[in-house]
Amino acid sequence: MRNHKVVLTRSLAGVPDAGDFRVVDEALPEPEDREFLVRHLYLSLDPYQRSAMAGRHRLGRGPLVAGDMPAAETLGQVLRSRHPDYREGDYVRHFGGWQEYALSAGERTERVDPALAPLSAWLGVLGMPGLTAWASAVELAGVQAGQTVLVSAALGPVGSMVGQLAIQRGATAVGIAGSDEKCAIVTGEFGFRACVNYRQEGFLERLRAALPEGADVYHDNVGGQMLADAFSVLKVNGTVILCGLMERYNDPARSKPLDLALPIMKRAVMKGLVVSDFEHRRPVFEAAVAAGIRTGQIRYREDRVAGIGQAGAHFARLMRGENVGKSLVVLGPEAAN
Ligand SMILES: NC(=O)c1ccc[n+]([C@@H]2O[C@H](COP(=O)([O-])OP(=O)(O)OC[C@H]3O[C@@H](n4cnc5c(N)ncnc54)[C@H](OP(=O)(O)O)[C@@H]3O)[C@@H](O)[C@H]2O)c1
Repeated sequence: MRNHKVVLTRSLAGVPDAGDFRVVDEALPEPEDREFLVRHLYLSLDPYQRSAMAGRHRLGRGPLVAGDMPAAETLGQVLRSRHPDYREGDYVRHFGGWQEYALSAGERTERVDPALAPLSAWLGVLGMPGLTAWASAVELAGVQAGQTVLVSAALGPVGSMVGQLAIQRGATAVGIAGSDEKCAIVTGEFGFRACVNYRQEGFLERLRAALPEGADVYHDNVGGQMLADAFSVLKVNGTVILCGLMERYNDPARSKPLDLALPIMKRAVMKGLVVSDFEHRRPVFEAAVAAGIRTGQIRYREDRVAGIGQAGAHFARLMRGENVGKSLVVLGPEAAN
């Protein structure tokens, strides 16, 4: 058996494209004492990986150059083990990178129970993006019944979960997304009261029309002009959760700073969110969301492609904003053993 991994063909500039990546074939490594070999079933593609590739992410190891493999979370099954705590067949989530197999000594590795929820969900609504949404709606904004919560990038795993958690708490969710097709899913499947397509003419007027009462909370996944526009519907004393900067990950130089008159005039409370601060809430979050998935109260979409060779093109699709749900590369059939 051979391992296939994806490496960069050059340092990234701007929006990535498939030609920035190539597949390398190598011998499968053998686990040494206290190591195990994981066969990956799913590779998670996430926006932070773009910043990490450019050396702009706090978890990254500096700008990646030609020949470097991007880091990423993966979900897989232990194929061979020489580690006392992991057995062949165990399902694990770890930072395996853009490849089909990886060795692990158990650091930053969690065992995953496939009986609780579908395996792929542990990288999406039950994984880091879901915990991010939980941190926003439950921990930082403390959304309450009767409030109205505005969410950008509303179809993705973070945005769709912020809206659904807000709705569960008795609030109303209004989304922003980049096409009418996405908006139809945001309202039809995720239960948002309305969704505004920001790529169509007259976005601000339509946003105001969708929020006649204003928004108590704005969850921001985008930054830039979208963040500035959201202030036009934020209530006085409203809360803004600063979560993501989709508008600038590909090219930070293009981004315009926020006019601070906007939060001043709204007497706004602005809170920055870093998901790793909420690690201690993971058990509560997992129990609640896994139960919600089983009862059908929590829904999610996945944007899947099959085969490690597709990872680069699929990542480019994510960074162009064309993904429809959690971006995943399927690397192998489930229940391989
Ligand atoms: N702070 C933290 O600890 C933390 C943790 C996890 C994630 N995040 C952030 O949360 C945000 C959402 O993450 P996700 O995994 O759920 O991603 P996602 O929503 O699946 O994908 C990102 C979406 O951003 C939207 N977008 C808006 N403006 C864009 C632009 N100029 N270029 C490209 N895309 C644009 C696109 O949808 P539309 O065009 O339809 O809006 C795209 O589908 C990201 O900013 C991510 O970095 C932050």
